[in-house]
Amino acid sequence: MAFIQWDESLSVGVPVIDGEHKSLIDCVNKLHEATESLKPQRTVSTILDSFVDLVSYHFRREERVMRATGYPDLEDHMAKHREFETYLLANRHPSKEKARPPSDRDAVNHIKQWLVDHIRNDDKLYAPYTGDNPAVVTAVYETAVYEDV
Ligand SMILES: [Fe+2]
Ligand SMILES: [Fe+2]
Repeated sequence: MAFIQWDESLSVGVPVIDGEHKSLIDCVNKLHEATESLKPQRTVSTILDSFVDLVSYHFRREERVMRATGYPDLEDHMAKHREFETYLLANRHPSKEKARPPSDRDAVNHIKQWLVDHIRNDDKLYAPYTGDNPAVVTAVYETAVYEDV
C-alpha cells in the first residue's frame, strides 16, 4: 500500500490538474520510501528538490486556472501555496552550513497531510468554477513550462 493512494475522492475534475496531483503524490511516496529505508541524504535531497520544483510549477499553473476562471478566493489560495513553499524551502536549507532535508518522519507526514488536505479542502473549491469554461483549457494548455518556473 502506497504512503498516499490517489483515488477519485482527490479528483478536482480537471484532468491535467489531477495528473499533476498524481505526480506530486508519487514524489511524496518516493520521499517517504527513501526516508523510511534510510537512503543517503543526497538521495533524499534529490527527491525533495524534484518535489519543490513540481510544487512550484503546479502551484503557478493552478493559480493561472483560478485566475482565468475568476475564482474569488484566489488570494487566499495563493497565500496557502506560498506558506507551503516557504515551509519546504526552510526545511531544504535550514542553515547555510548544512542542508538537512526533512528526512524525519514528522516532516514527511506533514507534507503528506498538507497535500491531501489542500487538494480535498482547497483545490476542490475551484473545481465548480472550471466547468466547461474554455478559458480553463486555454490557461492550462497554453502555459509554457518555462514561463512561470
Ligand atoms: Fe492549490
Ligand atoms: Fe493543487
